[in-house]
Amino acid sequence: MRMDADSLLNPERRMLHRMQAKGGHEWSLDDVLEACEWSDQAVAVGAGHGLSNGGFVTTKETSSSVIRLAAEGMKAKEHGLLEARLWNWIQNHDEPTMANLQSDFERHEAGPGVGLLKRIGVQLSEGRFTAEQPNQVTSHIEERTAFIEALPQDNEAVDATLLEHFKSRRGLIEAVVTTTRTWTLTPLGKSVPAASLVEKKLINDITTELLQSDDWKEAAYRPFDVTLESSTPRTGRSHPMQALIERVRSIFLEMGFSELVDDYVQTAGWNMDALFIPQDHPAREMQDTFYLDEPKSIELPTHLTDAWGAIHEHGGETGSVGWGGSFSAETSQKGLLRTHTTVNTIQYLAKNPTEACRVFSVDRVFRKEAIDRTHLPEFHQIEGIIMEEGANLQMLVTTLKTFYAKMGYPEVRVRPAYFPYTEPSLEIEVKWRGKWLELGGAGIFRPEVTEPLGIASPVLAWGMGLERLAMLVLGLDDIRQLYISDLEWLRNQPVL
Ligand code: PHE
Repeated sequence: MRMDADSLLNPERRMLHRMQAKGGHEWSLDDVLEACEWSDQAVAVGAGHGLSNGGFVTTKETSSSVIRLAAEGMKAKEHGLLEARLWNWIQNHDEPTMANLQSDFERHEAGPGVGLLKRIGVQLSEGRFTAEQPNQVTSHIEERTAFIEALPQDNEAVDATLLEHFKSRRGLIEAVVTTTRTWTLTPLGKSVPAASLVEKKLINDITTELLQSDDWKEAAYRPFDVTLESSTPRTGRSHPMQALIERVRSIFLEMGFSELVDDYVQTAGWNMDALFIPQDHPAREMQDTFYLDEPKSIELPTHLTDAWGAIHEHGGETGSVGWGGSFSAETSQKGLLRTHTTVNTIQYLAKNPTEACRVFSVDRVFRKEAIDRTHLPEFHQIEGIIMEEGANLQMLVTTLKTFYAKMGYPEVRVRPAYFPYTEPSLEIEVKWRGKWLELGGAGIFRPEVTEPLGIASPVLAWGMGLERLAMLVLGLDDIRQLYISDLEWLRNQPVL
């Protein structure tokens, strides 16, 4: 409690001063606003609160509840209540049957509307609407209409039965509580000398000038209540996915990788054959991969299709036995939307087969997936390769662990897995909220992949889901949230 008039804030000073000047009646909010020349109710209520805490005024608060129209209620006021519109239709239609009603009214109206009518005496016999006492139906509806039209009204003033009725219907009415306050000077308030109610010049900002002079010692400072809620200023910002991509990028750049950006229109040859994915692999079917009509096929040099053909049919020079069967160069040339970004790293290696490298990409891939909580037909992969003399599995695991540790997930484990293009192959799992979640695949490229392209050293490779990672980072349980442009959600996302 502040009892000392010296510590009063400026609005409190002004309010007390003006109240003193006019004498001892009860002051309403409007009286205070007018006398103090304020337009902001919050200032008046705040000042009144402060004065009452200090014992300078007493506050009287009365709350009342007002019933007013909600969104559906406003529509009903304009176009009529649902039962009124249906009853009107029944009375004026030559054939007031259920079937006709259903064709004249939408389903969301016809269903509940018939229910409402039945409860006030309308019957349905042999598909036709009738009423034994039509006047009673009409008077029920008139009462309800009058109720709606009379709103807003004080809670006490409205008919209780009708109020209960409308409360049970969605969106028609709502109750709002309003508080009215009045303030009255206390003897203490009256006794404060007017001279001590002069408004002080308050310092809002602490400037270097102020600190350099001696003025700060005597100055009055505007107090801040740091416990009050404040609004967050709206500023432009990156979409959380873009922010995450930037973060992933900077981590790989920091780890000495260079970024690869390449097209997503590719051939089946590079997307699959080069990676020793057999031509009859189920993932290559139309229902899993988006094949293109335009370009339907993209020419590939015969030395490539020949080399892949040899590998697939009998293992080429690698000592492998291949997949057997016969290889089709035509299948290789089919145009498609890449199903993984490995299609780009393998081409990078084909162009630079002998130079040691560390390359990554964060880019879009496409798979014909049905959309659900964890699947999208279009998503992003975080792909990377390390090629160098002596590269080994340990290095691969360490690199992945380092990446996830930098992302904030120190607990990573790998498990054996299978991909046609790597041996050994592994799955990467990250611990999140006590559970292990699979985030991607990795491995060392097989000779069937590297030899036909003349790749000299071992290649460590991985491909991980970016959206999966985003779900962890943002705590989502539905992947679609990332792309629905929900502004409210977007505004509340942490800055990554
Ligand atoms: N391309 C694999 C996928 O799309 C991931 C992967 C990349 C696995 C590189 C091993 C090596 O899931």
